Amino acid sequence: MSSPDPTDFPRTASYEADPEQVSRVLLLYSGGLDTSVMLKWIQDHYGAEVVCLTVNLGQPGEDYEVIRGKAISLGAVDCHIVDAREQFAAEYLAPAIRANALYGGGYPLFTALGRPLIAKLAVEHARASGCDTIAHGCTGKGNDQVRIEATVATLAPELKVIAPVRSWQMGREEEIEYAREHGIPVKGGTEAAPYSIDDNLWGRSSEGRWIEDLDHEPEDDVFQLVTRPEEAPDEPERISLTFERGVPVALNDRPLGLVDLIEAVAEIGARHGVGIIDHIEDRIVGLKVRDIYEAPAAAIILPAHQELERLVCTIHQNQFKPQLDRQWAYLVYAGLWWEPLRDDLDAYMDRVSERVTGTIGLKLYKGQARVITRSSPNAVYDAALASFSQSGGLFSQTASPGFIELFSLQSAMAWRLRNQ
Ligand code: ARG
Repeated sequence: MSSPDPTDFPRTASYEADPEQVSRVLLLYSGGLDTSVMLKWIQDHYGAEVVCLTVNLGQPGEDYEVIRGKAISLGAVDCHIVDAREQFAAEYLAPAIRANALYGGGYPLFTALGRPLIAKLAVEHARASGCDTIAHGCTGKGNDQVRIEATVATLAPELKVIAPVRSWQMGREEEIEYAREHGIPVKGGTEAAPYSIDDNLWGRSSEGRWIEDLDHEPEDDVFQLVTRPEEAPDEPERISLTFERGVPVALNDRPLGLVDLIEAVAEIGARHGVGIIDHIEDRIVGLKVRDIYEAPAAAIILPAHQELERLVCTIHQNQFKPQLDRQWAYLVYAGLWWEPLRDDLDAYMDRVSERVTGTIGLKLYKGQARVITRSSPNAVYDAALASFSQSGGLFSQTASPGFIELFSLQSAMAWRLRNQ
């Protein structure tokens, strides 16, 4: 063979595997084209055994027995299927809700939250199956490689990583050809490349095709989860969400575990066209890109949580926490889930959340979820004090002018210095 060996490229990080030392690989396997080609390619190019791991984070429409069967038929020595939905909800989504987690003002971080868990499970299964290397299907242009490799490097310095898509120099056409040659079943055919999709319980993202043209209005076929608002029901729907300590525990007064609750809220929101986000995003690796997100559950639960938090917190807490929320979202987006600052921030979130208990009512209508009612035993609110119709009690209106004079004193002095 005269063509260069694609496993023989300069390695820039200490965790990148030396081909000589790769003998048993844990492959993060989705059953799609990239990772199916990879499953064969690793056996061919490294002469290594491959153990597959497929993680269920609540992505709809997967048949895990079919995925396992495909992996085994392509030569995997084993294929582990892990249902991590409960863990994902309890350890990743609940903290995200407490942190009102949105990156760049709009992205509810579902992929970013899933990656550290997927990579942690990869480490556990690699160790348990005697693997020396973890392989994943991320490209060299995205955030997901950062999240997965930072997790492996942090949790398992003894394990190495290979990311064949970064080095094998195959485009989609070549991958399909490789698949045909190696008896890998290919869904669809050689028609235009599909959208690049990632999804889980908390949302779904689409990238590629016309989405890369910033001037191109969303085409209808990208929306596979959320009804287009113009096609949503003509009647609004009211729902209530009850929170305990910052986490939703009941929908319409019916207690539900977090996974079931998120699924139920997503279904209602999707029906009403709620949660479409057309987002320009600053990736960690320098690129600015556009994503189309569908995140109906997040688009309902996050604003409800934030509303309840505003009600039970003081003006000072309400001024302060969004700064921490933003830092939390940035760390998670950037793949630094295991960074101690994230843990420190969570300690603050947990403390504030001790009082975030109550019920928020929302009205869903043609793409909107609007808060319409609130109640909480911890509300820092006194209807009698706030009312226009009464005076007296703790609040003396005659005290207001003295407050205003002192409160504005420095600003008034400074203004005069600059303007006289
Ligand atoms: N832009 C989002 C993020 O960085 C979504 C990425 C989706 N990943 C994917 N492999 N399609 O988290």
